[in-house]
Amino acid sequence: MSEFLPQGIQNILPDLIQLLYLVAMSFFIIGIKRLGSPATARSGNQMASFGMLLGVIITLFDQQILTFEYIIGGVLLGGLIGAIAAKKVEMTAMPEMVAIFNGFGGGASALVAWGEFSRMDPTLFAGQDLVTIGLSILIGSITFTGSFIAFGKLKGFIGGGQIAFPGQNYFNLLLTFGTLGLVGWFTFDPTNMLAFWLIFGIALLLGVLTVLPIGGADMPVVISLLNSYSGIAASMAGFVINNNLLIISGALVGAAGLILTNIMCKAMNRTLGNVLFGAFGGDGGSGGGGAAVDHDKTVHETTPDDVALQTAYADKVIIVPGYGLAVAQAQHVLKEVADALEEKGVEVKYGIHPVAGRMPGHMNVLLAEADVPYDQLYDMDQINPEFKTTDVVLIIGANDVVNPAAKTESGSPIYGMPIMNVDEAKRTIVFKRSLSPGYAGIDNSLFYEDTNQMFFGDAKKSLQALSHSLDAV
Ligand code: TAP
Repeated sequence: MSEFLPQGIQNILPDLIQLLYLVAMSFFIIGIKRLGSPATARSGNQMASFGMLLGVIITLFDQQILTFEYIIGGVLLGGLIGAIAAKKVEMTAMPEMVAIFNGFGGGASALVAWGEFSRMDPTLFAGQDLVTIGLSILIGSITFTGSFIAFGKLKGFIGGGQIAFPGQNYFNLLLTFGTLGLVGWFTFDPTNMLAFWLIFGIALLLGVLTVLPIGGADMPVVISLLNSYSGIAASMAGFVINNNLLIISGALVGAAGLILTNIMCKAMNRTLGNVLFGAFGGDGGSGGGGAAVDHDKTVHETTPDDVALQTAYADKVIIVPGYGLAVAQAQHVLKEVADALEEKGVEVKYGIHPVAGRMPGHMNVLLAEADVPYDQLYDMDQINPEFKTTDVVLIIGANDVVNPAAKTESGSPIYGMPIMNVDEAKRTIVFKRSLSPGYAGIDNSLFYEDTNQMFFGDAKKSLQALSHSLDAV
C-alpha cells in the first residue's frame, strides 16, 4: 500500500512506521493503566482499542504487506463478530468469551509462525528465529486447545470435574520437556519437517491434557493463565516476523495475565500449583451442595418488611454483592433499593471482594451496568475497617467471600483467604435461595450467627419485595 504515498514519505516510511508503532504501544500502556479503576476503565478500553486500530492501519503501510485487502476484510469481519459477541454475551458468560478469544489469539500466533516458516527456505532462518518459531507454535497451540477445553468446561459441554488418568501430571511434564527438546531439534535441523509437525501435534495434545484434569470451578484462573500464554505466543510471533508492536503488546498481555492469575490465586489463598494440579471446586457451579451443612444449627429467617424497617432506620448500610447477584441479574433492582435508602438519608456503600463472582472485576462491571456511582464502590481493604461502625450489611448472593471460617478454621479449604469482615457489623442479612454452599463447597458459619438473618429466595425477587416494602416505610 505504501506505493500510493509520495516518494519523500516512502523514503522515511520504515522509521515513521516504527515511530507510529511506538504511539500505538503508548495507547496500550495508558489504556491498561486506566483499566485499574472503574471510573477510567471505559476510556482505558477505548484507548487500547484505538491503539490496536492504529497498529492495524500502520501495518497496512508496512512494506512487507502485499495484499492489504485481506487485512481490511479481516478487520471488518473480525470487528463485526467481536461487536456482536460483546453485545450478546451475558455477564456471567464473560469467562467463556475470554476463553474463546484467548484460544483464537494463541492459534493465530501459531499460524503466523507457521506462515513465516513456510514462506522461506528453512536453511535461511537464523537460529534465534527458529527458536521463536518453535516456541510460538508450541505456546500458541497449547493455548488454542487448552482454551477450547476451558470453554467446554465452563459451558458444561465437558464434565466440570476432574478428568484425569493416574500419573497424568507426570505424563504432561514429560510431554512438555519432550516438546522443548523437539524445539531444540527443529532449531538445529529446520529441514526436518518431522520435528516441526511433532511440535505442533504434541502441543495441541498438551493443551487438552493440561486443562482437562482441572476442576470446572477453577477455570477462571486457568483462563487468566491461558490469556497470559496467548500474549507470550503473540510476543514470540512478533519476534518471528520482526514486528515490535506485536512483541510489546504480546509481552503486555503476557505480563497482565500473569499478574491477574497471581492476584486471583492470592485472593483465594491458593497457589498456582494447587489450582493446576489440585482438586477444588469441581462442579464449577454455585450452591453445588455436597458440602456438610449443619442441620442441627438454626438460622433466623427474615421478611421483606422486617429488612425494610431495619435498613430504612439505619445510619449506614453496606452492600456486599457476590456470584448470586450475577446469576439473578439483580443489579438494577439492587440499585433501586440503594436509591430508596439514600432518599431516606441512609449512607450506602458497596464492598467488593477481589474474587466475588466468577471473574476479576465481575461485580464492578455488574454494578456499573446498573449505574451505581463509582465513588460508592469500595475494595475489600478500604471497606473492611468500616464494618464495625455499620448498622446493616446486605449480602446479596455472596457466600465464600464472607465466610468467617477463612479466619477461624485452620482446616477449612478457604483458611487464610482474605474475606469481608461482615461479621463485625451490628447486623448482617444474607440474600440467597438456600443454605447451600458456594464455590468452595463449604458451610458458612455466618448464617448461624445471632446477628445474622437469612432472606431466602432468588436475589432479584427478594430485592423487588424489599423495594416494595421500602416504599411503605
Ligand atoms: P459463592 O461463594 O460462589 O456463593 C454464591 C452464592 O450465590 C451461592 O451460595 C448461592 O446460594 C447464591 N446464589 C446463586 N444463585 C442465586 C440467586 N439466583 N439468587 C440468590 N442467590 C443465589 O460466591 P462469592 O461469595 O461471590 O464467592 C466467589 C467464589 O468464587 C469464591 O470462592 C472465589 O474464590 C471463587 N472464584 C472466583 C473467581 C473470581 S476471579 N471472581 C475465580 C475463581 C473462583 P444458593 O444456591 O443458596 O442461592
